[in-house]
Order: sequence, then structure tokens, then C-alpha cells
Amino acid sequence: MTKRIIVALDFNAADQALSLLDKLDPALCNVKIGKELFTACGPDVVRATIARGFDVFLDLKFHDIPNTVANAIRVTAELGVWMVNVHASGGLVMMEKAREALAGFGDQRPLLIAVTVLTSLAQEDLRQIGIETSAEEQVSKLAFLSREAGLDGVVCSAAETRLLRAQLPAEFCLVTPGIRRPEDASDDQKRIVGPVEAVRNGSNYLVIGRPITQAESPNEALAEFNLALASVD
Ligand code: C5P
Repeated sequence: MTKRIIVALDFNAADQALSLLDKLDPALCNVKIGKELFTACGPDVVRATIARGFDVFLDLKFHDIPNTVANAIRVTAELGVWMVNVHASGGLVMMEKAREALAGFGDQRPLLIAVTVLTSLAQEDLRQIGIETSAEEQVSKLAFLSREAGLDGVVCSAAETRLLRAQLPAEFCLVTPGIRRPEDASDDQKRIVGPVEAVRNGSNYLVIGRPITQAESPNEALAEFNLALASVD
């Protein structure tokens, strides 16, 4: 089975995250630790998650001067995470330095991906920060820049997946949040897509939070998602 699902551990306490992990099988999913859990619990929760056998996407979206980002990325690799990310708008040099910081880790290095344009930003928000092109063009431009810097992929919304897949080679990873089945609540997600459709559109990994973490049986919900995805492998 291809492990495509990354379960988002959006909690503010380690015991909540770890008790969810006790219900999930690391052979069936990877997990994402973001700013909330990391700020509350620090690297210990990352180590505890890895010790339970899970591959961790550390979603801290670094954006700073190249030297600072490269050093932070090196520390994430020392922690043993599987995937880590930066903001592509930090620029080509920042991304190149981040990539170079991983050179010494060989096969053990984390995948390094970039956030292009946050999906929370509408056209008017982009204009306010000096970006006059369409959001779509900006996403595409930053995805190409990420590839030029030697990154492994980008986070992209379901709405962008198909376009980026058509423009970028198959080995360039697309990681897609906003995944819902028809029976799931959309919560605060606006542009949602089904898991099978996301993979058919070219997504490699699906970030799924509440439909699994808030399910009565997270383990069963994960199994259902995986079963649906087995048809596309
Ligand atoms: O619970 P839900 O499935 O909506 O969680 C989606 C996860 O993906 C959350 O951790 C959210 O912060 C993250 N994410 C997102 N949209 C983006 C980038 C990240 O929903 N554009």
C-alpha cells in the first residue's frame, strides 16, 4: 500500500496527540505536527511521535534569512523528521541554503517542501502585499522556483493540484490539505476535494485532520480513507 495520508495532529497538548497516536497504525499513515502542538510541547512531542514509529511532517513553514532557515532545517533533520517545509516567498537563496543544509544527511534527510501562496489569501490580500499577478500565477511561479532550488515539492490546495501536476514532473511532490468525503463536515475548509479526486488530480500526499482526528473511531476513519485510495494505486 502507498502511504498517502498525513494525519494533522492539531492539538495543544502532548497527551491529546499521543492518545490519538495510540489509536493509529504507523504502517497506515504519516502524521503532521504544526505550529500549535510544536509551540505547546516542543521537540519532545516530535521525538515521542517518532519513537512510536510514525514518520513526521514538521509543518513549521520557516521564512527568515537564509542562514537562519538553513540552521533551523539542519536541526529538524537531526530530530529525525520525515518532511519539513519553508515558505517559497523567502526566495531562491533561502531555499537553496535550506536544501544544502540537508546534504550531509544522505538518505536519511527529510523531504523539503515549500508553501507557495497560503490558501487563506484572496486576490485582494495579495494586492495589499504588493503582488499584482493572479494567485494561480503566483503559485505556479513559486512552485517552479522551489523546484529550481532543488526542493522535493510543494504544499498546494486541491484547486491547484491539477494545474501544478501538468506543469511539474511526476517526482515533484504535491501535498494537499482540504480533503473531505461527501459524508464529512467541511468545517472551515472552503474549497474541499475528495481523497480519490485529489490523487487523480496528481496529489502525492493528502493532509487530513478533523475527519480522522475527531471521528468516533480514528482508526476506522483512516482505514476507510485508505480503502478508497486503494482503488487509485
Ligand atoms: O482538519 P483539517 O482536515 O481541515 O486539517 C487540515 C490541516 O491542513 C490543518 O493542519 C491545516 O492547518 C492544514 N492546512 C490547510 N490548508 C492549507 C495549508 C495547511 O488546511 N492551505
